[in-house]
Amino acid sequence: MKISLSNDAPLTVAVDWLVVPVSAKKPLQDPLLQKLDRALGGALAAHVKEESFEAKRGKTLTMALPGKGRVRAKQLLIVGLGEGTGSQAMMRLLGVKAGRIAMSQTSLGVVAPTTDPALLGALADGIGTGSYRYTRYLTGSRVPKRQLAKASILIERKPSVEQKHSVHEGSVTAQAVNFARDLVNCPPNDLTATVLADEAKKRSDVLGLDCKIWDKKGISKLNMPLLLAVNRGSHEEPRFIHITYKPKTLPQGAPRVVFVGKGLTFDAGGLCLKPAGSMIDMKCDMAGAAMTIATVLAAAELELPIEVHAIVPSTDNMLGGNAFRPGDVYPSRDGKTVEIINTDAEGRLVLADALAYARELAPTYLIDHATLTGACTVALGPYRAGMFSNDEGLLDRYRQAGETTGEQFWALPMDEELRDELKSSIADIKHTGSRLGGACTAALFLREFVGDCRWVHLDIAGPAFTEKSQGTLPKGGTGFGILTALQFLRDLAKGRSTSP
Ligand code: BES
Ligand code: MN
Ligand code: ZN
Repeated sequence: MKISLSNDAPLTVAVDWLVVPVSAKKPLQDPLLQKLDRALGGALAAHVKEESFEAKRGKTLTMALPGKGRVRAKQLLIVGLGEGTGSQAMMRLLGVKAGRIAMSQTSLGVVAPTTDPALLGALADGIGTGSYRYTRYLTGSRVPKRQLAKASILIERKPSVEQKHSVHEGSVTAQAVNFARDLVNCPPNDLTATVLADEAKKRSDVLGLDCKIWDKKGISKLNMPLLLAVNRGSHEEPRFIHITYKPKTLPQGAPRVVFVGKGLTFDAGGLCLKPAGSMIDMKCDMAGAAMTIATVLAAAELELPIEVHAIVPSTDNMLGGNAFRPGDVYPSRDGKTVEIINTDAEGRLVLADALAYARELAPTYLIDHATLTGACTVALGPYRAGMFSNDEGLLDRYRQAGETTGEQFWALPMDEELRDELKSSIADIKHTGSRLGGACTAALFLREFVGDCRWVHLDIAGPAFTEKSQGTLPKGGTGFGILTALQFLRDLAKGRSTSP
């Protein structure tokens, strides 16, 4: 979809939907509504009164317009902004409301309540992600007849270069989020590790990025015993993916950021089989991989002045005759031996080998995203990710990036007392502890494999996939984490946080 920025103070643009934000406590005192009302001969004020519309955050009111005369739009959507109008989160919500209502139309115009470039960018990515729908498996009458092709953000003055750039950034961000959602929503019979790797390669080729892929034989030569252990129960080949984006000119001392994403295309739990109710959504177990791949592609497309890597260990976790068992002991890429306790704690195993590989790239920052533990969703609910780090400075920066975008994170501890639960009598380490503090012991296990890298682990088991739409997140795959990852990179590029 094309999202552009244009000046249209008189609001004469001929669109299917015109979206107008309102922030005044009493909507009828809002100058913009008054202007529209005059152009519509008082019909708007009458409608607002009749519906007792209040401009509370996210509240909406629709009205059919004549589609001719001074206001040529066919339909009007009014969106309440409530208080805090100056946040990315609010602008994104406005964009999402606009994108959602207009998704089956051809054109949309959204009046921007701001001239701030960063906020215009959030409005743009909101429009782009709001009009998202997963339609790949629909046939016949269920195939949508139309799809939003063109959206204009309307401002009063001629757009500046900076404002235009920001809107472009917003539309690239939306594409990244929607790409990650498509990958997560794709059924696990069609999205295997091989298909995921092929998709990563295809997209990397388009942007001229280096994308290395290892198959099962290659993975075994590369030395990833834990990834292979998880793959043992499957008929599908595993894949290991490494995408590199190096800017054409790299400033001296520029940071190198390595993202790692859990790529379990389906998690049946292995021999420690999940109950049916917990298994149904387990195609989402590659959401970390999806957002990691989407983030590096977007960083490249935006030509951010930072070296960015995406690393993905990918397989499914099945229970064929050759499956790994509780009680098995495997070596790891790092050298430590690992005693398997519960085959459903497979994510930390594939990540252990991937983190050990990532560490060899000498990253300035090492950042992993994983739908790692149900315990994290028990602790924080379904809309917030857990955040663990061995570096206070990095934790603060990531937290700050999250506050800027409005994606919700919460820092959780890695208490040393819990580390005792990972002691094994026959190997160097066990891979699970007790049920209590499950998200924390998972993080403690990962910490064993990151060496002295500055590292942050994001447990996105909750917000990566939702049962019902909530706020700006759609039902199903959400693309959670991309906004913040890109914000973190942009902040780094601005030099705000280059000194580690
Ligand atoms: N993929 C799951 C975690 C998960 C749960 C993701 C719910 C998304 C929604 C992970 O591999 C898993 O099964 N974790 C176990 C760990 C346990 C066996 C120590 C869990 O959370 O129950
Ligand atoms: Mn599992
Ligand atoms: Zn899993």
